[in-house]
Amino acid sequence: MSNTKKTTTTKKGLTLHLENAVDVKELKEYSKRVKEINEGINNKTLRGNDFLGWSDYPKTYNKAEVEQIIQDAKYVRENYDVLVVCGIGGSYLGARAVIEALTGIKKRDGVEIIFFGNTFSPNYAYQVLDYIKDKRFAINVISKSGTTTETSVAFRLVKGMLEQQVGKKAARKAIFATTDKEKGALKEEATKEGYRTYVLPDDVGGRYSVFTAVGLFPMAVAGINIKTFLTGARKAMKDTNNGDLKTNPCYQYACTRDYMLNHGKSVEMFVSYELQYTQIAEWLKQLFGESEGKEKKGLFPASGTFSTDLHSLGQFIQEGTPLLFETIIYVNKPKDDVIIPKERHDLDGLNYLKGQRLSYVNRKAFEGTLEAHTSGGVPCVVIELEKLDAYNMGYLLYFFMRAVAMSAYLLDVNPFDQPGVEIYKKNMFHLLGKKGY
Ligand code: PA5
Repeated sequence: MSNTKKTTTTKKGLTLHLENAVDVKELKEYSKRVKEINEGINNKTLRGNDFLGWSDYPKTYNKAEVEQIIQDAKYVRENYDVLVVCGIGGSYLGARAVIEALTGIKKRDGVEIIFFGNTFSPNYAYQVLDYIKDKRFAINVISKSGTTTETSVAFRLVKGMLEQQVGKKAARKAIFATTDKEKGALKEEATKEGYRTYVLPDDVGGRYSVFTAVGLFPMAVAGINIKTFLTGARKAMKDTNNGDLKTNPCYQYACTRDYMLNHGKSVEMFVSYELQYTQIAEWLKQLFGESEGKEKKGLFPASGTFSTDLHSLGQFIQEGTPLLFETIIYVNKPKDDVIIPKERHDLDGLNYLKGQRLSYVNRKAFEGTLEAHTSGGVPCVVIELEKLDAYNMGYLLYFFMRAVAMSAYLLDVNPFDQPGVEIYKKNMFHLLGKKGY
């Protein structure tokens, strides 16, 4: 990342590097459209505008609900060992990405968060039920529609176990429902049973809901400072909601994606060099895939965690069909680090690294790979962050949400619908014999 002339920096610690991907002069032709689309997003006048609630949500969010979430999360932390989160797609990926990125992938202190309802896997369902059966657990069921089958089946299973374990009355106190403010089966049940309920606003779709209670409650239970997370998002909102392409890295990134699609690339690979960021890429795949992949358009979102996946996909990336470009999220300072020890006899030949931090080796893997892939004809966009904490995480996720809205509008598709997802459901319901299918 040597050519700093073509690098753009935002005000708060996030730097977009395009020097290994595109000459920014090539993006100039997008300036006018970017300005118009940005105005349309700000004024909520574009296609799908009734789902643009997320765009100013870090400012307009329900303050009283956030206070309630913080209080309830404290109650859960003091009284339970596990929180089972039932949700799928946009109703769990954001929370999982943030929790893993900020707290790690091994069991941590405090309440353990288990994500359930994101699969029909009977093996996983059995394992989760077996694992929690002797533990004190609470449930957060999350569904905007209130009728998603994976989520509903999982909720029915864990609710039944909880009611058997502690009785119906105590179970009610341990169930938190996040759903539509007035409609849907989950809302009806929550009202009837008296569960604590949080709202997923009408104008925010699932994959754009990480700043609502959908993301905030599990994060708060995991010990993450959700107000700081929202402050980061608010700063990103201020930094990205201007239509000046020259100074807005979010839109430069969006245009680069469109440029790649128009110049022979069909896959964007989201890459990180940190295992606990793997779920960020899962969240990104849904955000980008569902927002853009329609009307036979869009980049296919893929992901890799390096160096792990360099030992499986590295060959293809370097020398295979030249269909992809990379978007690398690189964080300079890890939360934790280890030093490579010296060994007296150096039988493994590693003493040349003695005393080095593992983060230094990881950095060199990143630099070496960047050079290799770029020279192999794989354009590499780098999004560099100084560190990843609750603030930067909020900033980063908002940055991507704004970027995908821009690039979907550049493609002339509605970023906020997902008509194709319904087709498998209809077939499945028919095969299962559901009434009306
Ligand atoms: O982004 C989306 O709209 C989907 O991934 C949904 O979030 C997912 O299908 C879950 O839907 P629901 O929250 O209605 O249960």
